[in-house]
Amino acid sequence: MLKRPILAANWKMHHGPTASKTFMETFLAGYQPREDRTVVVFPPAVSLTAVTWMAASRPDILIGVQNIHWAEKGAFTGETSAEMAKDSGASMILVGHSERRHVFGETDAQCAKKCVAAARVGLPFMLCVGEKIDQREAGATSDVVTRQLREGLAQVANLISADFLLAYEPVWAIGTGLTATPGDASAIHTLLRAELTAMIGTRADDIPILYGGSVNVGNAATLVAAPEIDGLLVGGASLDAGSWIKIVEA
Ligand code: PGA
Repeated sequence: MLKRPILAANWKMHHGPTASKTFMETFLAGYQPREDRTVVVFPPAVSLTAVTWMAASRPDILIGVQNIHWAEKGAFTGETSAEMAKDSGASMILVGHSERRHVFGETDAQCAKKCVAAARVGLPFMLCVGEKIDQREAGATSDVVTRQLREGLAQVANLISADFLLAYEPVWAIGTGLTATPGDASAIHTLLRAELTAMIGTRADDIPILYGGSVNVGNAATLVAAPEIDGLLVGGASLDAGSWIKIVEA
C-alpha cells in the first residue's frame, strides 16, 4: 500500500528530457527519502525515460505517465500505450485528467477503456474526476463526480484494490489560483468514498483520494491535513524543483 500522504506532480506539457534532468538533479539533492509519504512525478511521455533514469537510485519516487491510449499497439499516431509507458519506466498511470476530458474531448467511455488498459499491464492508476464551474453552480457536482467515477471504473471495479487512486480536481480550480476550501474538498472526498464503498464494499477504505487544483507552497499543508484528503495532485507549483521540495515536505 502506498504511504500517505501521496504528493504527485503533474508537469503537463512542461519539461522535456533536458529540463527534466535538471529538475531531478535539484529535487533529488533537496529531498531525502521519507518513510511517511509517497512522491510521484508525472512527466510528459517523452521525458519518462530521462526521469526514470535520474531516479534509478531512488525507488521511493514513483514515475507515472500522464495519459495512455487503450490499445496495446496499432495505427494511433501520436499515442502511447500502457505497455510502452511501462516499458519506459512508468509505474503509475493518470487517467481522465480534466484537460484530457475538456480540451481533448475524452469521454467517460474512453476513460473506462484506459482504466482497463492500466489494469491489463498491472500498474496502479489514478482516475481524475471533477466538475466544471457551471456544473457546480447548477448544484450538479455530486452527480458529475459520481458519474465520472462509476463510468470510469465500469469495467474494472472487480479488480480495484488499494493500488487504485482517485483524484478530485474541480475544473474551476485547475490553474486558476482558486482552490477548493479544505472543507469543500473533504466533503466531496467523503461523498466519493461513499460511492466507492457502494461499488466495491470495504475495499474502498484503503483507496487514497487526492485533491488537485491550484495547490501551492502556501496551501499544501492545510489541504493535506484536512480529513479525507490523502494526498495532492499538483500542476503549476510542481514545475519548479524548489517549490516542489517545499510541497512534498509539507
Ligand atoms: P494546478 O493543476 O495545480 O496547476 O491547478 C493541477 C492539475 O491539473 O493536476
